[in-house]
Amino acid sequence: MELLTHVFVVLHLLGLAAIVGSAVFVARGVPTPALVWGARAQILTGLLLVGLNEAGDDPVNHTKVAVKLLVALGVAACAEIAAGRERRGEGNPNLVHAAGGLAVLNTLVAVLWT
Ligand code: HEM
Repeated sequence: MELLTHVFVVLHLLGLAAIVGSAVFVARGVPTPALVWGARAQILTGLLLVGLNEAGDDPVNHTKVAVKLLVALGVAACAEIAAGRERRGEGNPNLVHAAGGLAVLNTLVAVLWT
């Protein structure tokens, strides 16, 4: 169980790297597959981590998790809408910047909310 949790923490961190790497450092303003799939992965791996921690002995801060889920839904919404608009030739860099910024915000929530 502990190994599984560690595997999902690694996937969770790779999802973070995909979003912030793409939106903030590499393809600024352009919605890449890494951004969209990273945003989806954060919700999936985050919820699985909550389940694994609940199933084990690790306490879960439900308020913190609720805040992270809301912010992550915002990241995913921005990424999906930006990708949809890009496909229709109506690219909107602001949505990509918002997705990257919200992911950084969620990183701060994850690390600083103790
Ligand atoms: C853009 C979205 C997200 C980002 C950037 C993010 C970032 C992070 C980071 C950096 C950590 C490691 C913190 C540490 O170990 O000190 C973490 C851990 C965690 N995150 Fe997220 N997260 C996101 C979304 C979510 C969501 C949606 C959930 C659940 C609904 C979630 C649940 C968790 C849990 C339970 C842990 C603790 C894992 C453990 O140590 O067992 N995260 N997150």
